[in-house]
Amino acid sequence: MINIERLKSRINKLTSIGLDEDGGHTRLALSEEDRTARKLLITWMEELGLSVRIDDFGNIYGGKKGSIPNLDATVLGSHIDTVPKGGKFDGVLGVIGGLEAIESFIETGRTNKRTIELVAFTNEEGARFTPQMLGSGAVTDKFPKGYVYKRKDDEGRNFADELRAISFMGEDKNRLRNVQNFIELHIEQGPVLEEQNIPIGVVQGIAGFSWFEITVKGESNHSGTTPMKNRSDSLVSAAVLIQELNIWANKRKDGTVLTVGKINTQPGSVNVIPSSTGFTVDVRIYDLVTFKSTLAELKQLIDDKAQTLNTEYELKEIKTQRPVEFSPRLVDLIEKVSEKQNFPYLNMKSGAGHDAMYLNEITDTAMIFVPSTKGISHSPEEHTSWEDIEKGVNVLYGVMESLVE
Ligand code: HGY
Ligand code: MN
Ligand code: MN
Repeated sequence: MINIERLKSRINKLTSIGLDEDGGHTRLALSEEDRTARKLLITWMEELGLSVRIDDFGNIYGGKKGSIPNLDATVLGSHIDTVPKGGKFDGVLGVIGGLEAIESFIETGRTNKRTIELVAFTNEEGARFTPQMLGSGAVTDKFPKGYVYKRKDDEGRNFADELRAISFMGEDKNRLRNVQNFIELHIEQGPVLEEQNIPIGVVQGIAGFSWFEITVKGESNHSGTTPMKNRSDSLVSAAVLIQELNIWANKRKDGTVLTVGKINTQPGSVNVIPSSTGFTVDVRIYDLVTFKSTLAELKQLIDDKAQTLNTEYELKEIKTQRPVEFSPRLVDLIEKVSEKQNFPYLNMKSGAGHDAMYLNEITDTAMIFVPSTKGISHSPEEHTSWEDIEKGVNVLYGVMESLVE
């Protein structure tokens, strides 16, 4: 049904943008690399005759009007921005796979009653502008426009200026509206499908997440003259806290995972005892019922430990999103299409966040996973076989055609 060679050539072409010498992919949101990739995607959309529009968050839409115009749309999509030195398929598979499914459908000459839309959401990764999924969150009323526009990167540049700088400041009227179905194809980014040798994941929901930043206070002083017993070293206190958080997460048996991905000291000099140390916390919790209490337990642990260390700290919330459950109707459809194409499938939850998490707030939503080799993602080692990719895009095609005819 789909043309794997065309898909492979497009994915290879798009992912050559921001590819570095050790195989890492870096296309941070609203960067020059992101702009180049966006323009390439738009060229392909226009060549296919899709009507292209950009909204006021830089989300890119390519639409193929249905023969019954007032039917709400079936939307496919994901993101093309990456984490620093990320992988080849994270996000890209859902966008270019969606383009391939639409092109393959057009080639059949059949008519789509319901409008089909392909979308690439801005800043899904949250690597440059926190929090993650800003573009999809903005059009599903998770974030006010002013909040999104003021988000700053580590260099202090704000979202709105950077969106203008790459000439992708579109219009409010172009935002995603009137959607009946959203389907996102994505790599699993974990080890489960490969371990069980199953090609298709039917995703029933996504773990909740909480991102926050902790700043531990200390006292700057001379590294050469200050006796050890007189020190208030914020980095040492932070290290103890981080160790405690890691021990806590390792003890949990419910799939909860916790990561400290970024750390920085002030003033940040070899010979100055750090006056403050900031670090990020990213925790993922699957269970909706215990989500809040687990988070509360974690924050109590931090407070108790800081007391024991006799150290002051600040906790700044970045974003917390509870776990989501996808549409049983669409989950069922993905299962039926997988069965029809004779692909074994596994019902599963996603530990990674996706734009589908927010689309699920406004429309029926579900996801299709394909296996990740050795479960690796957000790394130059990220890999999925083209054979598995072909299966995943064919299932996406089958689901899409059932939703537009
Ligand atoms: O962090 C996540 O879960 C996603 O990759 N943005
Ligand atoms: Mn992704
Ligand atoms: Mn990602």
